Amino acid sequence: MSDLFDTEPNREECEWEERELEKNGLHYELTRRRFVQTAGVLSAGAAVGLPGVAIAETPMTRPITLKVNGKSQRLSLDSRTSLLDALREHLDLTGTKKGCDHGQCGACTVLIDGRRINSCLTLAFAAQGAEITTIEGLATKLDPKDLSELHPMQAAFLEQDGYQCGYCTPGQICSAVAAVEEHKRGALSIVSLHTGKTDPPEITDDEIRERMSGNICRCGAYPNIVAAVRAVTRGVSA
Ligand code: FES
Ligand code: FES
Repeated sequence: MSDLFDTEPNREECEWEERELEKNGLHYELTRRRFVQTAGVLSAGAAVGLPGVAIAETPMTRPITLKVNGKSQRLSLDSRTSLLDALREHLDLTGTKKGCDHGQCGACTVLIDGRRINSCLTLAFAAQGAEITTIEGLATKLDPKDLSELHPMQAAFLEQDGYQCGYCTPGQICSAVAAVEEHKRGALSIVSLHTGKTDPPEITDDEIRERMSGNICRCGAYPNIVAAVRAVTRGVSA
């Protein structure tokens, strides 16, 4: 049985391959055989942690300043870090939740300059210079028992029982805050276009459902979520 690590390329074979390639108008510094052998020994060495097999380190961390909930925060982050991971893993702001990490559930919704975004799809570096608001930044104080200190949307979710397990709730609330602002600005939704009520669009329950459709709730608390947004937009709680 041949030694697993006896992978020194056979010089004669390699030279023969290179000659053949050149004859056909092709020239490669690295033949297929050499490539496979070299890749094999590198990965085998990495897997067993062989001394002398150096794994290249790519220094990717960069200094970054993020303005979160009104406070500037200096960090050193891998340039590929998502805003979601920066908030949760580096700033300890775990109110923002990671659901799918693929832009499909809305659990990670935060506000950037007042607009809602999926923080799992946003690079932290892309958010430099912007005002980032998370669920923790909506309340003026962090006392959940004092409704007067909560953002009206947070209070409405509490009053209307707009959650069950609560996992989607921070994203729902951030999304709802921005949806109400979008409505105030006269932004249309597909429902406004279908109903023709576009000037300004009336905030019906269908409008609320459509505008909140990027936020999924596995517990199915949708009727109460709609009631909470309705309470804030129309002052109607049921
Ligand atoms: S975690 Fe970002 S959309 Fe699901
Ligand atoms: S309250 Fe549980 S996922 Fe929405």
